[in-house]
Amino acid sequence: MIAIGVLGLGNVGTGFMELLNSGKQTIENRLGTSVSVKKILVRDTGRPRARLAAGIITDRPDDILEDPSISIVVELMGGLEPARTYIRRALSRGKSVVTANKEVVSCYGAELMDLARENGVRFLFEGSVGGGIPIIRPIKECLAANEIHSVTGILNGTTNFILTRMEEDSMELDDALAEAQRLGYAEADPANDITGADVARKIAILATMAFRRGIIPDVVSTTGIDRVTLADMRYAGELGYRVKLLGHVGRRDDGYEAWVAPALVPLSHPLAGVRDSYNAVMVEGNACGTLMFYGRGAGGLPTASAVMGDVMEVIRGGPLPKFSFTSDSSLALLDSRTAVAPFYIRLKAKDEPGVLAAVSGVFGRHGISLSMVLQKNAAGGIAEIVIVTHKTHLGAIHDALIDLTSLSEVPAVDNYLRVWR
Ligand SMILES: NC(=O)c1ccc[n+]([C@@H]2O[C@H](COP(=O)([O-])OP(=O)(O)OC[C@H]3O[C@@H](n4cnc5c(N)ncnc54)[C@H](OP(=O)(O)O)[C@@H]3O)[C@@H](O)[C@H]2O)c1
Repeated sequence: MIAIGVLGLGNVGTGFMELLNSGKQTIENRLGTSVSVKKILVRDTGRPRARLAAGIITDRPDDILEDPSISIVVELMGGLEPARTYIRRALSRGKSVVTANKEVVSCYGAELMDLARENGVRFLFEGSVGGGIPIIRPIKECLAANEIHSVTGILNGTTNFILTRMEEDSMELDDALAEAQRLGYAEADPANDITGADVARKIAILATMAFRRGIIPDVVSTTGIDRVTLADMRYAGELGYRVKLLGHVGRRDDGYEAWVAPALVPLSHPLAGVRDSYNAVMVEGNACGTLMFYGRGAGGLPTASAVMGDVMEVIRGGPLPKFSFTSDSSLALLDSRTAVAPFYIRLKAKDEPGVLAAVSGVFGRHGISLSMVLQKNAAGGIAEIVIVTHKTHLGAIHDALIDLTSLSEVPAVDNYLRVWR
């Protein structure tokens, strides 16, 4: 009999208990052993709980961490602390740990992997990226023979839902966010989603798995969706694109790049078809070619499916994995200014002769050639100008935009977005 301790009984913890209950026979037949949850840690024991948790709720972490009969700890509390401390304590006491906590894994994954190795146990985190989508184990195991070139994805269901509503229902961002909150897709404080911080954590984890050297979220160049407007959506559509919040880590000839940013994705690209709260991850490898993993990127039951898969891997046992990321090596990323892409720019300019020439002159001085310039919606002597460049450096775009804002003919540079290949 395998005894499990669960830390946290929220969305995912409840999904985990439901899945264990409904699938108990199948899970135990596949494992050849019985499995049960002995204790569940929560903050507030007075809160009404699912019947499945009756009699095993505690608010004392020691009931799990100090119980020698519990061999697997499933951490589903979220947040950095006390989750990290509890995971460390469990690993130090010879318990394997399974978590869906992207904050802890992206910031302390290397240290926790090292600790697991020292104690001869496992630390698994499939649920931390892409919810129910298997992506960590495919990269780690199924694609282990590949040189991975890049991993690119739509990794945040909340922002993908918001962008979909903006495009399909002609909503501005604030209204689409309110709709996401009403339907339970966005939290009361959506900052981690809107700013791209959540995707940066997932990209840090994926980068580490794909390139086997650690990076932390802070070094991922990150731009959120807060400046994306309905106007951008419409112009993108007219140009044959859809705006998506992408996370990317890739190998270039001169090094590695990692970024999170809203981007114009061609309508014909598979990532453009990922709607609502769905997620997708594309992996490019030298032997496998391009693969796409698609599905529910969040939600209690889908995430519990990934967590349970890890628990079953721990129980199946076998030799401890040699491959993992360790704290003694890190992936050096190239300066984000060196990133190369076409860019979309939306600005306001005086509707006067010679203004377009002045604007294109600024781009020319920074070595940027333009593939398209459209004048839209002139009103009150001010026109909206939409520009798409040929491939250029992000740094050159930044410099050109600074120069443009100093032109008296250009009252505002409203937004710029990279165009995805
Ligand atoms: N929700 C998703 O769709 C999803 C998807 C992928 C990954 N994840 C990750 O899965 C983890 C859990 O997410 P969730 O949505 O299930 O969270 P949640 O609904 O907020 O639940 C958190 C649970 O942890 C307990 N808890 C929190 N802090 C605690 C503390 N200091 N001591 C004891 N118990 C504590 C809470 O106790 P009370 O019930 O007493 O408040 C609650 O039961 C997070 O790391 C999240 O990033 C979530």
